[in-house]
Order: sequence, then C-alpha cells, then structure tokens
Amino acid sequence: MSRIFPGSRRKGRGSPPPSLLPLSETKFRPRATRPSSLRLRARRLLRSRAIRVLLLLFSLWNFAEIYLVRRHLAASTLAHRHAAQTRRRGERVYVASLHWNDGWLVRKYWNDAVVGFAEAWGPENVFVSVYESGSWDDTKEGLEDLDRRLGELGVSRNITLSNKELRRIPFLAELRNRTLRDLIKLRDQGIYFDKILFLNDVVFRTEDVLTLLDTNEGKYAAACSLDVSDPPLYYDTFALRDSEGDTHLMQTWPYFRSELSQQAMVGNWPAVPVKSCWNGIVAMPAKPFVAETPLTFRALPDSLAALHLEASECCLIHADNPLSQQLGVYLNPRVRVGYNPRAYEAVNPRSGPWVSPWQIFKGLWGSRILKWVYRTETRDWIVNRRLEKWLAESPGRSEPGDFCIINEMQVLVENGWAHV
Ligand SMILES: *[C@@H]1O[C@H](CO)[C@@H](O)[C@H](O)[C@H]1NC(C)=O
Ligand SMILES: *[C@@H]1O[C@H](CO)[C@@H](O)[C@H](O)[C@H]1NC(C)=O
Repeated sequence: MSRIFPGSRRKGRGSPPPSLLPLSETKFRPRATRPSSLRLRARRLLRSRAIRVLLLLFSLWNFAEIYLVRRHLAASTLAHRHAAQTRRRGERVYVASLHWNDGWLVRKYWNDAVVGFAEAWGPENVFVSVYESGSWDDTKEGLEDLDRRLGELGVSRNITLSNKELRRIPFLAELRNRTLRDLIKLRDQGIYFDKILFLNDVVFRTEDVLTLLDTNEGKYAAACSLDVSDPPLYYDTFALRDSEGDTHLMQTWPYFRSELSQQAMVGNWPAVPVKSCWNGIVAMPAKPFVAETPLTFRALPDSLAALHLEASECCLIHADNPLSQQLGVYLNPRVRVGYNPRAYEAVNPRSGPWVSPWQIFKGLWGSRILKWVYRTETRDWIVNRRLEKWLAESPGRSEPGDFCIINEMQVLVENGWAHV
C-alpha cells in the first residue's frame, strides 16, 4: 500500500483518502492472491528501485557536470587578465569604428573606454578612425568630445562626421572600407600597424580590449568578443559561424553545434575556434589590409544576391582573409560586451561565473537534444539549392564565403539595422 500512496505515508498523517482506498484495495487484492505475486512484487520493487538509482545517478551526473563547467568558467580570472594587460604593449593598434545614432552610448561609455584604452596602451601606438553618418541624435557632439579628449592625450586620429544616410550591406561594406582609408594612407607614408581593432557601438571596458588583443597569445587572423543585447541571448547571429561553418545551434550558452567549438565553449577556452565572428569587438592583424591587393569588405556578388540571398560583409571578410586558414579565427568567451549597460552587467557579474547552474543544465541538455533532433540536416536547404543553381549557371563561378550565406528574409528580421 505504501507505494500506492507514497504521499500520504510520507506526510504521516492518517490514512489514504477514503474515496480511493476501497477502489485500490479491490483492484490489488486479487493479484496478491495469485501464486506469482511475490515475484511480481519483487520485480516491481526492483524496477522502482532501478528508477530511483537512475534518478540519483542522473542528478549526480548533472551536479558533477555543472560543477566542472562552473570551475572552468571561474578559472578565467584576474590573473589571466592582468597578464594579458601588459603582454602586447608596444604593438601598434589601428582602431576602426562606425557610428549611427548612438550618442547616449558614446557619451556615457564608449568615449571613456576608448580614451582609457589609448592611455593604457600608449597614445603614440594608437590611431583612432571613426566614421559617423546621418545621425539625428547627439552622436556628432559626443564624437567631437572624443576628438578633443584624444587630442589632449596626443592620439593620432580621424573622426569624420558626415550627413549622408546609409543603409544596407553594400553601403556598410563601403563605410567599413572608409574607416580603413587612413590605414592605407599611413602605409604610403611608411607608418604601419600590427593590429586593427574594430569597435562596434558596445559598452566595454579598457581591460576587455587588452584581454581580447592577447587572445591566443596574439596569434590569430581574427579574435572576437562575445556580444549580448538581450541576455542570455547573444547578439550577432548574422556573422557567427562555428568551426564547421554552421550557424548557432542555440542562441544561448553554449551556442555551437560543431564538436570543437562547443567543447571549447563548455571548457571556457580563451580561444574558441570558429570560422567567422564579428561580435562586438574584433581584433585582426593589419597586414592583409595593407597588402598589394588589400583585403576589403565586400557584399555578395549582385547575381547571387538577386536570388534573395544575403551575407554579412563581416563574415565574408574572414572567408576572403588569407590568414584565416593559417592562424585561425577565434571567439574569446572571456571578453563579453553589451549593447547596453544592463546587458554588459548581466554577462560580467561582480562575482562568480557568468553562466548560472540552471543555464548550464539547460544548455548542455538542450544542445544534446537539438543535436540529436537535427542530426542529419545542418545548413539551410533553401540557401543550398539557390547557391547550387547559381554555381551551375556559369562555370567560372565560386563563392568562398558560402558558409556566410543566409536567406535574405532572415537579415531583415535578425539585424533590423539597429546597429552598424
Ligand atoms: C572596398 O574598398 C575597395 C578598395 O578601396 C574597393 O575597391 C571596393 O569597391 C570597396 N567595396 C565596397 C563594397 O565598397
Ligand atoms: C579622414 O577620413 C575621411 C573619410 O575617410 C577622409 O575623407 C579624410 O580625407 C580623412 N582626413 C584626413 C586628414 O586624413
């Protein structure tokens, strides 16, 4: 009886509900008189005990797993960051940034972080290139303030404020190209840089940049931070591709589908191998950008875009970069930035790991289940079909950034042109 009414017994309060008692008694009494009842009962007991043991093991397994992941996450601490802050000084850094209607951010956070970085790195080793266009808020005033402060520090810079209003990817590619113009100009004057730092309109701290520049001890074709706008979801889904070139499995931790990228994320490696990323802040060696035929930002060929396909210029750049194969593209999960202060604080808690035990549990099991559900299908079949059609139309065609391509409808939904 005790197994039939476990609740009532545990509470230790009187007998089972009267309405149920006679029913279950009549139901079970005939069985109890059968000769095999003892074996049956024993088997049932065993079964429930097996279930209990399984449940216990499952809980223990999860506790252990969550404990280990939390330990990995906690290991990315100050010691690591301090070392990172001093190691790469002396390298020359070219900062490139686009702005549009983000005056509040510029005034309250961005300027301070950029000035702080220039101070920490050494004003003589930093050039700041900023291009703003068509803002109708106080972005221009904010950037004028930056111009003045950098001037006081003695930082070389080109802060361009323009009234042209620009959208869409070919324009964005052109704008990003524009922020690199001074890099070429300075090259022609014999002034070279080691790294380019692409700064999006994000909340960040000086030490975030220092840590990012030191990713994989400074050896990378690109190193990106992780960006968050609406935690716990990461933001730039448009450009992030795992080590196999696939889009995310889930928009929350641990994000990736490929074995390598996911393992690195779960283990909190300081450099998670990916094929493309552009999440918030990106550091890249300057060399390809000043080569004989310089690496530039581009959009998909028009003939391919005409099939309602789109790809981020920030993903294509990794496909085109000759260093990507050689040095690798990495996401550094120890550098997390936000598109607003609330998001920044959510992923940079004052103490303890930034992923909660519950998020770890959901992330690990969610990704196991999703990987099993989508085990056969990975890339978007609509995209694949259109790309194959395009390739077949003309024999000379190729697109090295095939892994960047998505169905155009997604672009409008995902990017919304809120950020540039
Ligand atoms: C990017 O810059 C290069 C060199 O300045 C230029 O040839 C190319 O057309 C630009 N791309 C876009 C999309 O504007
Ligand atoms: C600053 O950048 C703008 C936009 O690329 C360019 O037109 C201008 O010539 C640059 N100014 C200087 C002084 O180099």
